[in-house]
Amino acid sequence: MKVLLATQKPFAAAAVAGIREILEGAGHEVALLEKYAEQSDLVAAVSDAEAMIIRSDKVTAEVLDAAPKLKIVVRAGAGYDNVDLAAATAHGVVVMNTPGQNSNAVAELALAMMIFMARTQFTPATGTELLGKRLGVQAYGNVGRLVGQKARALGMEISALDPFLTDEQIASAGADPVHSVEELYSSSNYVSIHIPALPATIKSIGYDLITKMPKGGVLVNTARKEVIDEEGLMKALEERQDLRYVTDVMPDNYDELREKFGLRVFATPKKMGAQTAEANVNAGLAAARQIVDYFATGCTRFQVNK
Ligand code: 3PG
Repeated sequence: MKVLLATQKPFAAAAVAGIREILEGAGHEVALLEKYAEQSDLVAAVSDAEAMIIRSDKVTAEVLDAAPKLKIVVRAGAGYDNVDLAAATAHGVVVMNTPGQNSNAVAELALAMMIFMARTQFTPATGTELLGKRLGVQAYGNVGRLVGQKARALGMEISALDPFLTDEQIASAGADPVHSVEELYSSSNYVSIHIPALPATIKSIGYDLITKMPKGGVLVNTARKEVIDEEGLMKALEERQDLRYVTDVMPDNYDELREKFGLRVFATPKKMGAQTAEANVNAGLAAARQIVDYFATGCTRFQVNK
């Protein structure tokens, strides 16, 4: 089978080599499309692909229409909001993700961002410490739990909100359960967001929630920019001079935010949460193995468009 590895943001060389080894070892052929400039490059590259490994690459209806032989797409990572699941299902294409494989990298970045903001973006200004502060984790899944675990090691108190977990499950994973977003935001010095971008979560974090944070609150977003209501964020930061926002997903209004609020905001230029050699290898090799298994045995574990 011809497997297209399409990564606008390339994997580390070791991950590409490992993916090749697994796929070619199982008799598949690998085509590589990295750092492509236009979506049309992806559309052109899929014409003979029978399987695809992607990252945040956009698998739209147009891509699927252009890929008549495609049987499976594996998103090497957690979030699959970049894949048109309905169109994939209509084309009979199986879509999978590789949950958990890049979580540690994202969790480490969330912690790094908290320290970066606490220490005034590494300027000489007087900062604060994380010790004794309360961190609210919004969604206590693979990444959220790791963030909680690492923050606890730094002496933070952890609260977590997760509608899919019981209080007992949250408590046994080391956090104090809370039962509403309002409670999470109003009781946390730091809030770390780990919710997916879904119709129900898009623009769900705005002025009302952000201004519930206590004095000096820091909002940390290593999830998706779409979950933030950017106008509401702007208004909250305007009204509350003590609040700060740090994100791995650059807001559309970042230039304006930075101009108005300076060091109270920070965004990475390109999403880098999962961009470690280890995460690339973990997610990339898992994706390759899932494709090999799918063609060998029909295994659909991790399918997200069932
Ligand atoms: C994910 O959903 O797995 C992360 O956001 C990582 O995305 P990336 O593979 O584009 O870095």
